Amino acid sequence: MFAYRHAFHAGNHADVLKHITLIETLRLMQQKEAPIWVIDTHAGAGLYTLQSALVRDKAEWPTGIGRLWGDTHQAESIQRYLEVIAAFNPKKKLTHYPGSPLIARHLLREDDRLRAFEMHPSDIGPLQTALKGEPRRLKAERKDGFQQLRALLPPTSRRGLILIDPPYEMRQDYQHVITALKEGLARFATGVYLIWYPEIARFQVDRLLRQISGLPIQEVLHVRLTVRSALKDGLGLKGSGMVVINPPYGLKAILDETLPELTKLLGQDRQARGVVTQSDAKTALGQNNPGAVSVLSNRKTSSN
Ligand SMILES: C[S@@+](CC[C@H](N)C(=O)[O-])C[C@H]1O[C@@H](n2cnc3c(N)ncnc32)[C@H](O)[C@@H]1O
Repeated sequence: MFAYRHAFHAGNHADVLKHITLIETLRLMQQKEAPIWVIDTHAGAGLYTLQSALVRDKAEWPTGIGRLWGDTHQAESIQRYLEVIAAFNPKKKLTHYPGSPLIARHLLREDDRLRAFEMHPSDIGPLQTALKGEPRRLKAERKDGFQQLRALLPPTSRRGLILIDPPYEMRQDYQHVITALKEGLARFATGVYLIWYPEIARFQVDRLLRQISGLPIQEVLHVRLTVRSALKDGLGLKGSGMVVINPPYGLKAILDETLPELTKLLGQDRQARGVVTQSDAKTALGQNNPGAVSVLSNRKTSSN
């Protein structure tokens, strides 16, 4: 169960997509005054040292944040994301990458709250250290994040952002996401739920999207960033997606502006694509939804 360490993946293309989506969702929700609870069901270790001995040679950040760092970009969301990351790298050299709980903490207002869950025995200590000092606002616990939704929802403020970001190393995780969502939505139908999933050749991924599309939800935003074609054996992460249930107004427009540039920056071959759709769940999570943007192949077309 504890084979997965996020340290290897911190700052990779999937983290970039996930964290831009997280930052923009929270920012838009904060346009209303009422306090927000952020619940991070699978929080990781908090802060990652990019050159640590643990990840040396295997780190994935050079093909993620590494391609964005140090440049200016057109999409404001990419700039805002880099500003958040820069707050953890005050000397301007990219040495650390903040995970989702630290990104959320960075953006929290006085009355907002963060509840983070992490099961790995080596990651929970650093996470608790990173979040210590304000027990009323910030709390990290070694508990099963899937089960905690039952205990925490609905939040007292009735405004919540729930990030569900399991490793999917154990195939049961796919089913656990659906069970947690069913329970969460039954208690808190108006919550904003962000679910990350990997683009890998597994029938469980298709089934996960199909099952989410069958849940009692009104509006879903679906954003996908494919960075390369599948490897010959069909394995390996070729991209990732985020499903946002009850997306705040304005998120689609922001991601529509972001994805073409992000695809250009992070794409590794001609299969690179960014797709954003928003509609009822059945349409947004269908396999052939419209709106694909292929910056790499567009570039080829325009130069022909
Ligand atoms: C993909 S990583 C999280 C990354 C983090 N959300 C971020 O964006 O920086 C998934 C984490 O979930 C932890 N984990 C696995 N099963 C869990 C469970 N049932 N409850 C809480 N954490 C779990 C793993 O140890 C791992 O650190």
